[in-house]
Amino acid sequence: MSKVKDQYADGEAARAWARFIGDASRRTRHYGAFLRRLLRARGAERVLDVACGTGVDSVLLLEAGFDVTSCDASDQMLKHALRTRWARRKEPAFDRWAIEEANWLTLPEDLPDARDRFDAVLCLGNSFAHLPARPGPDPQADQRRAIANFWGCVRPGGALIVDHRNYDAILATGATPKSCFYYNNSVTDIRTSVVYVDGEAVEVAMDYEVGRGDGKSVEAVREESQKAKSCFRLTYYPHRLDDFCALLRDALGPVAGHTVYADFRPTPGYTHGLEGDGLGLPDLEGDDDAQDGDGDSPDDQPAVYVHVLQKPL
Ligand SMILES: C[S@@+](CC[C@H](N)C(=O)[O-])C[C@H]1O[C@@H](n2cnc3c(N)ncnc32)[C@H](O)[C@@H]1O
Repeated sequence: MSKVKDQYADGEAARAWARFIGDASRRTRHYGAFLRRLLRARGAERVLDVACGTGVDSVLLLEAGFDVTSCDASDQMLKHALRTRWARRKEPAFDRWAIEEANWLTLPEDLPDARDRFDAVLCLGNSFAHLPARPGPDPQADQRRAIANFWGCVRPGGALIVDHRNYDAILATGATPKSCFYYNNSVTDIRTSVVYVDGEAVEVAMDYEVGRGDGKSVEAVREESQKAKSCFRLTYYPHRLDDFCALLRDALGPVAGHTVYADFRPTPGYTHGLEGDGLGLPDLEGDDDAQDGDGDSPDDQPAVYVHVLQKPL
């Protein structure tokens, strides 16, 4: 097992992240509603957010009445979550928020009481793709271990919910869509580079330029001075959809069901065993972010795939 580098350690990405994800109004309208509905359809109460970062998903779920345990390996990200918990400590919902430092590769040791405990385990926000492949005979061993560790925290009958960007489209076009349900419009640019080893794409680097003007248009943010921008690089393993499904199968063995949502809509051909989960199509009426282009640009493709896996009873 290898050590994992904290890509957020210098604090710049952590500082910019809160602006990057915005004031949660988009999440509340689309993604937040999707997540709450997904969890409630399963009767979930106790949730583990294994990539809590600044705590955005955790807060959304606390506010919706779930009991949340949040963890992350980055001190700089956790600092923001801890500050939020302190600032809102008088709200009863925030009594139900446990925050821990934990690495996915050592989850059983870092969270010794978590085994089989949670109705749902979440790894969202394109977080899982941070785990790199390792040089050597089994480059994806760490990734399988992390997935298996997440699964270990799910109670029988519970669910693992893990997402990744649409790397098939990113590799095909060499570009990353700026628009995404997760993030607001203060992202002024994402420059994308791909590293190939022996013809295989093994790493995507994204250089983010994030403006400081939440809620302003991209043009307005661009017009702001150089000082008003924040630039940081994050790297990802480019999980292609079919390969990620195979990775999940290898790591988990038999599952009771697996559904893939493309931008929160079920993906035809990627639903196995979860018919009757009561979820149906998320209600995205009035959705002005729906993909409606001609398919030639990365912005015309689904931005994110969300995998929902159900543990056998
Ligand atoms: C892209 S941020 C997303 C945070 C949050 N889910 C959101 O959507 O805003 C990814 C998070 O995953 C965490 N992370 C990456 N690798 C990790 C690992 N091996 N163990 C624990 N956390 C990890 C990072 O520290 C970071 O906070």
